[in-house]
Amino acid sequence: MLVAEKIGKRFTGVIALQDVSMQLRPGRVTAIIGENGAGKSTLMKILSGVYAEYEGRILLNGAEVRFANPKEAQEKGISIIHQELNLIPDLSITENIFLGRELTDRWGLLNKKAMRERTALLLQRLKLNVSADILVRDLKVGQQQVIEIAKALLLESQVIIMDEPTSAISEAEVEILFGIIEQLRAEGKIIAYISHKLDELFRIADDFVVLRDGQVTETGTMKGIDHDAIVRKMVGRDIARLEHNRAPADAAEDLLSVAALSWHAGNKQLLKNISFSLRRGEVLGIFGLMGAGRTELLECILGLHAGEHTGDMRLNGVSLDVRSPRDAIRAGLVLVPEDRKKDGLIPGLDVKTNISLSILRSLGRNGLLNNQAERSLAEHYKDSLRIKTPNLEQQVRHLSGGNQQKVILARCLATNPKVLMLDEPTRGIDVNAKNEIYKLILELAESGLGIIVVSSELPEILTVSDRILVLCEGKISGTFPRATAGEDDILKAAIPKTI
Ligand SMILES: Nc1ncnc2c1ncn2[C@@H]1O[C@H](COP(=O)(O)OP(=O)(O)OP(=O)(O)O)[C@@H](O)[C@H]1O
Ligand SMILES: [Mg+2]
Repeated sequence: MLVAEKIGKRFTGVIALQDVSMQLRPGRVTAIIGENGAGKSTLMKILSGVYAEYEGRILLNGAEVRFANPKEAQEKGISIIHQELNLIPDLSITENIFLGRELTDRWGLLNKKAMRERTALLLQRLKLNVSADILVRDLKVGQQQVIEIAKALLLESQVIIMDEPTSAISEAEVEILFGIIEQLRAEGKIIAYISHKLDELFRIADDFVVLRDGQVTETGTMKGIDHDAIVRKMVGRDIARLEHNRAPADAAEDLLSVAALSWHAGNKQLLKNISFSLRRGEVLGIFGLMGAGRTELLECILGLHAGEHTGDMRLNGVSLDVRSPRDAIRAGLVLVPEDRKKDGLIPGLDVKTNISLSILRSLGRNGLLNNQAERSLAEHYKDSLRIKTPNLEQQVRHLSGGNQQKVILARCLATNPKVLMLDEPTRGIDVNAKNEIYKLILELAESGLGIIVVSSELPEILTVSDRILVLCEGKISGTFPRATAGEDDILKAAIPKTI
């Protein structure tokens, strides 16, 4: 059994954990639940040796343990899959998996062959069909997350902590992971599982621990607990699902129109003859399975592949000539990216700077940065998006995952866009904050923005969209107005006809 006793942890200005006691039992999956910033990742980092400084005790199989670093925790059989990817892009999959625990032969030389073989086996177990030698930078985000999982499995640990392991992977990969979790549970392993996708918890968890503002408010078994009860435990009150009867935008002219957009990369056709339009004040949802071309479509609109695709794009009737995200921002188009770490935040800079980053120029007069303007801008978004940070000077990497997502959103909004594109806008965001973001999307639409929301969560699409466009294998396979959109029809349109 793994027991935490009166764990406390503070960072400058923040009490992340206070008096936290809980236990993780063998052969059971324990869900650690709580809102963004509740302290879930911090607790898991303490259990896995990432933070050596803390109050209280950890007992493993009855004996107190104290780890100076993750390696010591691993040696004692505790490993963690981190929420944020910790891979080195320019190393191969094998090198990433064995980083810091390389296999050597009897002469002390690196045993590359053995490492590659073990990696290949792991990849096979996780049904990831790529070579062990491929560089991590060439993998998609979802695949990278699978590599994180492989890293933890390699160690055959007694305790496996998973901090939002499914935030970036596809349904099929989730199924594989769940199969593995079930196997681990049957082997009597201790598993802690963090996810904001509550339906996952119902499927996989046996027990739960609720954290609220750094304290345990409740523990118990999942049996007999439903969605609303979990939410109530997390947030401390009922949260109504967001319902609205927003009338679709009635503006006559199109804000953004895309006609016959096609994109070949190599011999692969990524987008085929895509045509659609977006009106002022409209929220257009784009749904599709992993690989349907959703992200590619947004990237083309943003000018990331200028010159590579054909077709016509217009903003307010004027032909769009964007060749970079900077051009796009100038034109009034902005994208909140899918991968906040890779494409978005600068983790070492503070909240204020991250928010004002894309408009630093317009904030400063005569080339001088107007500190006051920068501060009030950041202050405004901190309040309106309820970004949880002790102050605006906090480095973004110290914010919880969900709050980092809000910082990116703030940065994009600060550019004052005409068209706001959101790629998986609520990844890693808790139920309460999700609703806040949905409300915000609707408010922004009311204020006249055109909004495109790409999401793999159907309920999310159905909540915010006025109209839903379904992509399948790079083509538009269906268009549904909100009023008549049924889950089944949308899913049917999203699934390729020939497999
Ligand atoms: N290294 C750090 N320095 C300063 N503050 C930190 C640090 N790490 C975490 N915090 C703060 O501690 C609190 C708990 O953060 P933690 O990351 O544990 O939350 P979480 O429950 O995992 O949230 P999420 O669901 O968003 O991932 C937050 O207020 C966060 O800003
Ligand atoms: Mg976290």
